[in-house]
Amino acid sequence: MKRVNLLLSEHMPPEIEGAYQTLRTNILFGGTGRKVFLFASAAPGEGKSTAVLRLAMSMARLGKKVLVLDADLRGSKLHTRIDMQGRMLSGLSNFLRGELIVEEAVCSTNIERLYLFPPGPKPDNPTELLSSERFRELMEILRKVFDVILVDTPALGTAVDAQITAVRADGAVIVIEAGTARARDEKGAVQMLQRSRCPVIGAVLMKAKGEEPLA
Ligand SMILES: Nc1ncnc2c1ncn2[C@@H]1O[C@H](COP(=O)(O)OP(=O)(O)OP(=O)(O)O)[C@@H](O)[C@H]1O
Ligand SMILES: [Mg+2]
Repeated sequence: MKRVNLLLSEHMPPEIEGAYQTLRTNILFGGTGRKVFLFASAAPGEGKSTAVLRLAMSMARLGKKVLVLDADLRGSKLHTRIDMQGRMLSGLSNFLRGELIVEEAVCSTNIERLYLFPPGPKPDNPTELLSSERFRELMEILRKVFDVILVDTPALGTAVDAQITAVRADGAVIVIEAGTARARDEKGAVQMLQRSRCPVIGAVLMKAKGEEPLA
């Protein structure tokens, strides 16, 4: 199995650490039998990927076997958050095209029990790939291996991909950037996820006033 190092610092101000612990508790104990959680936002850059990685670290520390599935096939910046030692990482796009098996895509990390499924090279047809039977099969396989799966997605306002991915999730968390989010857009985001029959289980406020940058 490939191994990568996360570049995020493990140390956070106590109040932020506490906020992630609360989020972790709410997600893990909020509903029985839920395992796959999708992180979505109305607009790009609100903080989804940061929240997903931070939360995954927090869950792994609690003893859960956690997978971060990067389903942002359009503009993932995961490569800026991990040390890939100069390699290109194959991942979801390759798997969905039938080019590799799960074991060849999943990477272990420097955080024990935390695994990453990278997005792979940007495909021409992300929406079709995520709509495929192979994506459904992948989620069935991953559910058997991991305790929790956090799915990162592109913003709902930029592509239909998150809505399609949400069909395979047990719950969605909406990531909201303090100060920029508009109520109408957030309402629209909730409606889009509900159309995918994915319950919206909560929201995370990022970049609140006074919060230090974490990335
Ligand atoms: N809590 C925070 N405080 C300050 N800055 C933050 C916080 N969370 C994220 N950022 C910064 O905001 C920017 C966007 O964050 P991130 O990549 O997590 O968002 P995203 O929603 O995944 O974006 P995209 O839609 O492009 O995938 C990054 O530069 C990140 O460092
Ligand atoms: Mg992102």
